[in-house]
Amino acid sequence: MKKRYLLGVFLLSCFIAKGQDSTIKSSVKNVEAKVDSVLALMTLEEKVGQLVQYNGSWDLTGPASEMNNKQKEENLKAGKVGAMLNVLSVEATREAQKLVMENSRLKIPLMFGYDVIHGYTTIFPVPLAETASWDLEAMERTAEIAAVESAANGVNWTFSPMIDVSRDARWGRIMEGSGEDPYLTSKVAVAKVKGYQSNDLANPRSIAATAKHFAGYGFGEAGRDYNTVHIGENELHNTILPPFKEAAKAGVATFMNAFNDIDGTPATAHKTLQRDILKKEWDWDGFVVSDWGSIPEMIAHGLARDKKHAAQIALNAGSDMDMEGGAYESSLVSLVEEGKVSQEYIDDAVKRVLRVKFKLGLFDDPYLYSNPELLENISFEEHKNVARDVAKKSIVLLKNENDLLPIQDSIKKIAVIGPLADDKDTPIGNWRAQGEANSAVSLLEGLKNNMNEDVEISYAKGANLGMGERSFLMPLKINETDTSGFQEAINKASEADLVIMALGEDAFQTGEGRSQVDVGLAGVQQDLLEEIRKVNKNIVLVLINGRPMEITYASENIPAIVEAWQLGSESGNAIADVLLGDYNPSGKLPVSFPRAVGQEPLYYNQKSTGRPSNPTHVTYSGYTDEKKDALYPFGFGLSYTSFEYGDLTISEEEFTPGSPIEVSFSLSNTGEKEGKEIVQLYIKDIVASTTRPIKELKGFEAVSLAPGETKTVTFEINEEMLQFYTANEKWESEAGEFEVMVGGNSRDLQTVKFSLKK
Ligand code: BGC
Repeated sequence: MKKRYLLGVFLLSCFIAKGQDSTIKSSVKNVEAKVDSVLALMTLEEKVGQLVQYNGSWDLTGPASEMNNKQKEENLKAGKVGAMLNVLSVEATREAQKLVMENSRLKIPLMFGYDVIHGYTTIFPVPLAETASWDLEAMERTAEIAAVESAANGVNWTFSPMIDVSRDARWGRIMEGSGEDPYLTSKVAVAKVKGYQSNDLANPRSIAATAKHFAGYGFGEAGRDYNTVHIGENELHNTILPPFKEAAKAGVATFMNAFNDIDGTPATAHKTLQRDILKKEWDWDGFVVSDWGSIPEMIAHGLARDKKHAAQIALNAGSDMDMEGGAYESSLVSLVEEGKVSQEYIDDAVKRVLRVKFKLGLFDDPYLYSNPELLENISFEEHKNVARDVAKKSIVLLKNENDLLPIQDSIKKIAVIGPLADDKDTPIGNWRAQGEANSAVSLLEGLKNNMNEDVEISYAKGANLGMGERSFLMPLKINETDTSGFQEAINKASEADLVIMALGEDAFQTGEGRSQVDVGLAGVQQDLLEEIRKVNKNIVLVLINGRPMEITYASENIPAIVEAWQLGSESGNAIADVLLGDYNPSGKLPVSFPRAVGQEPLYYNQKSTGRPSNPTHVTYSGYTDEKKDALYPFGFGLSYTSFEYGDLTISEEEFTPGSPIEVSFSLSNTGEKEGKEIVQLYIKDIVASTTRPIKELKGFEAVSLAPGETKTVTFEINEEMLQFYTANEKWESEAGEFEVMVGGNSRDLQTVKFSLKK
């Protein structure tokens, strides 16, 4: 649990509910008129109040503001707060809302935000894992469920989805996003926004979403969290902004800015991003919340002299709400009086906040989300089924020598080994909202639940991984020395027909502030793996982790590798579904797995460089001690069946805007099991006004085939797919030659050429 809701308890015990005044209800029909009518009634102090967000718990994600709770409570009553975060439960949110509704002059309801990242109580796979399913419907559904469970607990705003394209395995927050590709991340962004918000924000089962972190947070130098970002215009527009633009188009209610600076300007101070691009060019009408304390952090950045200066810079740059930074509440009124922040900017920010509150239905019923009935009507059993379904779809089969998997009937004795084999906590992952500690189905439990009774299962942990206090804020201690459990594991492995080893990362190795310089198996895990292999080579390695890992040894020495990520509440059952062959794995990697951490940042859609290869000399862009490509590339994932791609045909070799062409091929299931293949379409712009990636994902489709079945798959290629941020500083296509590539991963592709004529 990331945070406890102590304020809720505190509020409950401190206040006697008073009679409820009527809320502001405007008779005018459209939201804009309603917003204006409220704004017209507000004093400057009340306006500033709407731009202030308080934390409501003591278990924080960052440095706490100095203000004590008594003062916070007084400010709530005075209408000096627009939103809170981490106030959980119907009772707590109702009590906090009452403070405002029963005491403040204008009774403008609060919003209650929370980090609902991969589920609220029912925990789904961490976002990177879930993206590996490439199943947008499933991702929309899990967001919908997370929204219902949140809303039933008083939360009406999630700080999700995180749509930072991230290409560095060292960055701990890579688990929280959708990986290295802007197109795939954009699709997930839209699915998540739809899932959380539904078609109607005022539906009490849906909540407001947040596109975060705007922008560039995934590009911190050297994979270090909060670090400086050096990105130019080209990368910013072509790689980082597209998912945000799609989220804005999909109507995401709020944006969150970021901790990092970009080429000298902290994101929180970034006028071009927030005012010019987001609010003007994209014409987006929601509000931007700062990241936790990112406004006063501009003092440490060396951009602001003090909090007041930070408030001035942030508001002028278009940061609308101050999350727990204490800068707006202490300085905005005087900044306006001194003419350093315009009334117009304040009004614009307040209107944005009010607009979202109206759309959420809070002016009609401030307690809409504090309704105990909603919780009573939830079927957690159904949510669990969805969690299992999406978890099994998220698993990626990386290696399966001699068809070791699915586990064959001849296997009668299985040794389940490893620190994560019976770990009920790690699959819940970091950013776990109200997911209970130790509540996941472990791999061992999953196998026992689903395996035939005539198979004997033995278990030995072998060693510990994470030790001591494991929590959101505290550093994690890793067992680097204790191998006292090895012998028992070795004995059990030597007696078994098959060994299933669960290794990887503790839940608290990824997440905020969890950057690592090593992305291999931490602690004594590698030694354990090698010791077990000495006595039994029949090993299925099940990886349970949040980031792409360096697993070169395993890829060379272990016959079967299953990437099972941190899959949430139903983890063990979902892994059993795959190991036992009840589900034929269909997941594909949303990130490249490196051969060595020194390759990071690593991603398939790199630029060519002027020296892409040279078979004889060292004078090309590569490494002298390692290959330059990924061990397992983006889009990669095996199945228990095999697929064959027929030749590519293209309807026309040349086309003009408005007359799309089609590329087609046959896909056959040449194996013996029914299976699903995620076919992927990539395009390369051969010559352009700026350098372009060697290939970019532009489409994908899940194709299910029975054994022996063949289907024709067709993708349309239209002019929009060829657009990029050109040397003209515009999003447009350029005439010329292109390559279109199709295949089952980003490396093994067939290619045909076509051209665009304009
Ligand atoms: C994180 C955000 C999160 C916020 C509120 C910050 O530390 O960067 O992603 O939404 O805390 O908990």
